[in-house]
This record gives sequence, C-alpha cells and structure tokens, in this order.
Amino acid sequence: LSTVEFDTSKVAEGMQLVITWQGKPVFIRNRTAAEVQQATSVNLSDLKDPQTDTERTKEGHQSTLVVLASCTHLGCIPTFGTGDYGGWFCPCHGSHYDVSGRIRKGPAPINLVVPEYEFTAGSTIRIG
Ligand code: FES
Repeated sequence: LSTVEFDTSKVAEGMQLVITWQGKPVFIRNRTAAEVQQATSVNLSDLKDPQTDTERTKEGHQSTLVVLASCTHLGCIPTFGTGDYGGWFCPCHGSHYDVSGRIRKGPAPINLVVPEYEFTAGSTIRIG
C-alpha cells in the first residue's frame, strides 16, 4: 500500500506504537505535555540538523510525532525512551535522538525522517 491510515488515539500518552508503511516501520509517538515543552524549548543552535519541533509536527496535534523508525546513520531501529535526550537511542553506533526525533549526539547525520502525512479526520492520520 502506498498510503496507510492510523488512529493516533490508540497510542497511550507517553508511549509509542510501531506501524508499517511501505514495508518500513514507523514510530507513532504520543508525547506528554512535558515532552512537548522539552522539544519546543531547545535552542536551534544546539542542533546538528536544526529544525523546530513545530516543523516536525502538525498544527493542533503537537503531541503526536510521526517518524521513520530508521536511524539516519546506517538504518538500525532506535530504542524508544532512551539515550541522553529521552527520545530514542540507536544501539548500533550510539546515536542519541531527542523527543522530537532530532539527532543530538553520535554519528547520525540528520534527524529521524518525518514522512509525508496529514490528519484526515479527528485523530486519524494518513501517511503517504
Ligand atoms: Fe544508528 Fe549507526 S545505525 S548509530
């Protein structure tokens, strides 16, 4: 399937679910208010691949983060809720991502990729 729909309300607050889109795993994360606050308060000059949290989420749905579950270094699957920045940690070579999926430390060159998606109705998104 070139597109996939998913109801993000299935993800408990503070957790993530992994779905498959075009044969690839995708993280759907329901961030807590504290995590959103943390993600938006980062100084862009501290980022290797500067992007605001707002650029990586959809207006009115900032608790939801959708990213490809593939480390941008060599493609391992990062581990949820770990690492120095509370986002993900890639155990293959030690990349640390923040709660916005932005690379903060380690060899990964760019942020976890946000796929093309939109909210279609209520809490449902369509990826692709
Ligand atoms: Fe993730 Fe190398 S594949 S750090």
